[in-house]
Amino acid sequence: MNFLDLVKKRQSDRKYTDQPVEREKIERCLEAARLAPSASNSQPWEFIVIEEPKLREKLANATFSDLVRFNRFVPSAPVLVVLTSWRPKLHIVLGGILKNRQFNLIDVGITAEHFCLQAAEEGLGTCMLGWFNTHKVMKLLDIRRPQKPVLIFTLGYSGHKTIREKKRRNIDDIRRYIS
Ligand SMILES: Cc1cc2nc3c(=O)[nH]c(=O)nc-3n(C[C@H](O)[C@H](O)[C@H](O)COP(=O)(O)O)c2cc1C
Repeated sequence: MNFLDLVKKRQSDRKYTDQPVEREKIERCLEAARLAPSASNSQPWEFIVIEEPKLREKLANATFSDLVRFNRFVPSAPVLVVLTSWRPKLHIVLGGILKNRQFNLIDVGITAEHFCLQAAEEGLGTCMLGWFNTHKVMKLLDIRRPQKPVLIFTLGYSGHKTIREKKRRNIDDIRRYIS
């Protein structure tokens, strides 16, 4: 697929069918994520793939509450993937302090999008979730600091029939050439 078409095809899918996701498709998404660039090639991430229904349900329930309800669709996803970040190496932390940048979060964002674009290429839907109960997720998956969950992806065959038009800022508002 043409890359720009793939970018347009990826969208946050918030409805899934029951169709199971083939393991080899998940593996290709992880491979695309593995090849992502990172500051000093530090690759400060781990992907935890949860297929097991009971654990998946508990994890899904950690992404919404009575007050914050927008992630109530999450239990419909047949696979959840938790993306964790490690504390980066000391020289990257120091570089980040000097430059006022959190390189490991930039790295995690890049690998996350590699994962989601490969999923779109595989005909799968995803939604990145930044809203979840960190403490509950760490407890459920036995994640210990300095490792920390940063994002959760829903993964599955989309229940949406169409690709929504992207709502984005106008190109004139986001780019500036200096020629
Ligand atoms: C870091 C991050 C966190 C997000 N967290 C959530 C979330 O908790 N729940 C949700 O439904 N969507 C979440 N989204 C999806 C965004 O709402 C979505 O990407 C944005 O509205 C653009 O829509 P699109 O992905 O369909 O193009 C998140 C996206 C990003 C990049």
